[in-house]
Order: sequence, then structure tokens, then C-alpha cells
Amino acid sequence: MTAADPAPYRALVHPAGTRRIDVIDQRALPHACTTIGIDDADTAALAIRAMWIRGAPLIGAVGAYALALALDDDAGDAGLARAHQALDATRPTAVNLRWALDRVVAAVSPLPAEARAAAAWREADAIAAEDVAANHAIGGHGLRLLRELAARRPGPVRVMTHCNAGALATCGWGTATAPIFLAHAEGIALHVFVSETRPRLQGANLTAWELRQRGIPHTLFVDGASGLLMQRRDVDIVIVGADRVARNGDVCNKIGTYDKALAAADNGVPFYAAVPSPTLDPALASGAMIPIEARDADEVLSVAGVDRQGRAARVTVAPAGTQVVNYAFDVTPARLVTGLITERGVAVASAEGIGALFPERMR
Ligand code: MRU
Repeated sequence: MTAADPAPYRALVHPAGTRRIDVIDQRALPHACTTIGIDDADTAALAIRAMWIRGAPLIGAVGAYALALALDDDAGDAGLARAHQALDATRPTAVNLRWALDRVVAAVSPLPAEARAAAAWREADAIAAEDVAANHAIGGHGLRLLRELAARRPGPVRVMTHCNAGALATCGWGTATAPIFLAHAEGIALHVFVSETRPRLQGANLTAWELRQRGIPHTLFVDGASGLLMQRRDVDIVIVGADRVARNGDVCNKIGTYDKALAAADNGVPFYAAVPSPTLDPALASGAMIPIEARDADEVLSVAGVDRQGRAARVTVAPAGTQVVNYAFDVTPARLVTGLITERGVAVASAEGIGALFPERMR
């Protein structure tokens, strides 16, 4: 594992010389690791909307490639605007998608139509490469926190995480997992507490799989257990990802993150969000303005997995017709966040803190 080659698997690859991307079909994990080739914009949009791929930075990068695919077919102004709008509507909460789409539009708009598609592919490649570098830098800053904890008491550093902010959510190392992967590579003993993350089980299906791939000790727990684990002093630090961070430092992430931050604050456990700069949204004054995705009731009414014969199955877990609320994300107020681990260092979760590291974003 090196900075250039962060993972034994890659969630997204653009094979050199092609106009195609290959993505891991995350719906099949942890039971199978299969790759899907995507060579048209509609399929790329479906991959985002139907969560074949997911995770804020990965959604952004796939969105950028999807726009390049759209421009392969129609590079006129109307086609560009239509594709931007359609892709932007696929998932509402992670700001990385809008950020990446806007960036591609800004790069290609001044160009003649015949030059736009190639420029969009170059921009998408740059977005993906910058994500790998940002992951690695976040890993380095988070590693320092883990080293300090390792020096403080004997035994493994016990890290709690939520959902999947791993390599599968990015183009490289992951965000919340990057410090973990670097610390493990450095020989720091770790134990990762992974929350299941109902309803879609990204913790159980994806984060547990990633940790197993690397041989990092971990324990899976049901979402409701995070408070008890912290009360029992089983956790030294919480590190989660983020889908959007408002100007004041409020952190929007997978539903259940707020509960963990509350329990962490009540038990004196430091709570960090790993935040690459495309996840910052300084246009929104506070987290209350962040659009929260509401998803299908069936995700809550049923659970998908494989049976003991290895056959895919979805089983119902509540009476048919039960009313459901299925918000996919929540907002953790900045006051509960110990720090934002960014590619430029650890920021205080506030406008001043973010502005100190990213002054150009706060104007
Ligand atoms: O609904 P998902 O699986 O796309 O949600 C993912 C998360 O909430 C992650 O924690 C977040 O995107 C950060 S990924 C580096």
C-alpha cells in the first residue's frame, strides 16, 4: 500500500485510453466483489441514484465522469445544461456531486463544442487524482491523533466509525479510514468499532469488509450500542466521514452520526469528522439548510443479504404497511465536533476554523 496505490481494490477506475469507467458494484459486497463497466451517462446516473456506488467523494468523481460521458454524445450548451441538471438530481445531500459537476462545467464551458468532451474527461481524471491525494493527506493528519492516543495508554487504540467512509467511498484511501490504514501500516495496534448502519448496512457490508481485507481487528455493533460502548470506556476516538459541512462547521453525515456525537460529548470521547475540501459548503450558513435525502420505506421494512446457501435474499422485518421515516443523513452541530480532519490539517469546526485553513473558500 503506497500513496500511489492506496488499496488492494479500487472503487473507481478510468482505464487509460478508454471512454469508460469501471466501478465496484457495492450492492454485492461483502458477498462478491464485482466490477461494472459504465460507458454511458444514463447508466452512470443510475449507478449514483441506485447506489451501485456511494460515498460523497466517489459520488462526486463518478458524477464528473458521467458528465464527460454525456458530452461524448452531446457537447452543445443545451446538452451540457441538461446533463448537469439530471446528474445533480441523482442524490441531494453530498455536496461533492454539485461541486464536481460545477467544476467540469466551468472547465468546458469556454471551449468549442468539439473540444469539450476530452476536456471533461481530463477534469474528471484530475478530480479523481486530487481525491486520492486528499485522502492521503487526511490520513497523515489523522495519523498524528492516533499516534498521540497510542502513546497515552497500553493496548490498541479503539476507534469508532460509522457507515463507510472508506476506500469504497472515495477514489483512494477513504477519509475516516485513511488514518486507520496509515496507522495500521505503521504498526500501531488498533481496534475499530464498526456500526452496522441501518438501513443499508454500509458499516456491516462495506467497512467490515475493508478492514478484513487489510487484517485490521474490528468489532461490529448494532447502531443502538454506541452510547453504551462509550459509557463503558471502550472507545478512545470517533472518526466519521461527512457528506456536507456548512459554513459554521455543522457536519452532515449518515443518519446516526449525531447520536454518536452526543454520546461522545457526554462521555468525553473526542469526535472527529474527516472532511476533504470538496465536502465543504460555505454557501450554507448552517447545517439546518442542508437538504436531507429521504429514501424508500422498503429499505427500513426489509433487510437484504444472502441466505446460508449463499443465495441473495431480501426479508421483511416489519408488518406490511407500517409507516416509515427513512432520512439517510443527519446533522451534527459544530459544538459536538472536536475537529475536522481536512487535507490541510485539523480545523476547528467553525467558520473561523475552516477559514484559517481554506481562506479562499470562505470569501
Ligand atoms: O448513503 P451513502 O452510503 O452515500 O452515505 C455515505 C456516508 O454518509 C459517508 O459517511 C460519507 O459520504 C463520507 S464518505 C468518505
